[in-house]
Amino acid sequence: MPDPKPVLIDADPGLDDLLALVLALRSSALDVRAVSVVAGNVSVDACAANALRILEAMDIDPPPVFRGCAESLAPPVRRAGHVHGADGLGGVAHAWPVRRLRVEKAHAADAIPDLARRHAGALTLVAIGPLTNVAAALQRDPEGMANLREIVAMGGSGDGRGNVTPRAEFNFYADPQAARIVIRSGLPVTLVGLNVTEQALLSRKRFHRRLAAMQEGPLRQLLLGATGPYFDFAMQRRGKDACPLHDPLAVAAAIQPDLVQTRPMVCDVADEPGAARGMMTAQPAEGDPDREPGASVAQVAMGVAVEPFLDLFLNTVCG
Ligand code: RIB
Ligand code: CA
Repeated sequence: MPDPKPVLIDADPGLDDLLALVLALRSSALDVRAVSVVAGNVSVDACAANALRILEAMDIDPPPVFRGCAESLAPPVRRAGHVHGADGLGGVAHAWPVRRLRVEKAHAADAIPDLARRHAGALTLVAIGPLTNVAAALQRDPEGMANLREIVAMGGSGDGRGNVTPRAEFNFYADPQAARIVIRSGLPVTLVGLNVTEQALLSRKRFHRRLAAMQEGPLRQLLLGATGPYFDFAMQRRGKDACPLHDPLAVAAAIQPDLVQTRPMVCDVADEPGAARGMMTAQPAEGDPDREPGASVAQVAMGVAVEPFLDLFLNTVCG
């Protein structure tokens, strides 16, 4: 068994963030060195409190949590309380008071490059919310960020589809300027977008069957109690009682990269206000002779091994 991969998870918990954080923290393949939170699904303060609630519900020695940006680079902001609950935790946050953990004093945009520098090329940043913290870190300390091994981000879509508008995915819509800064950073970036995450559907029935066999305790109670609205929203939107595991798939791509098939693509994100806001474009990079200088090539996930991913997710989260 190789040494666990050191990672930092930047999130906006959020219900699929909850599932992604549990997957990362229970995976023996990852060493979660820190969690940072960013405004996205709900406010940054609500995200910070939810991150602490999730860590307290798990019987682990928790990583530090850093609070990040409260506003995207390109206001107006859009939240997703209709998907994740106004509290970001399916409406049950009130039943999970934060008892012992606190966020760190440092801002996430300082903590992320500091941690990258301390891990000298070994740290993977898994970003599963709007990329505001990552962009701020790149602006504050590009040398520190150059120490990152890679960035794996849930965002956009390899086929241009959207879930906020027909062409814009939430994380890129919420902060298109940040997404553009990250994609143009020159760092190794892997994008896990809706074209693959919407194939990674977990049925409520299968999830509940595995939860029923899970050891009783606070984590099982939280997973069962919080995730109902996420399945309900998926049922309303798609007519199927199965939810897309957007953020968990990005974490799984860091755990086992061959779960997704990637392709080098020249990517961009529309960051001007209006109907195109947050729209991602991606053109195959192979043999692109007239690629504009400074163009941004990212590894874009274009395929996913759905059953192996769902098995990894369920065996790790509910095992
Ligand atoms: O489009 C899905 C993404 O937006 C996920 O990260 C979800 O948590 C929301 O933030
Ligand atoms: Ca998220």
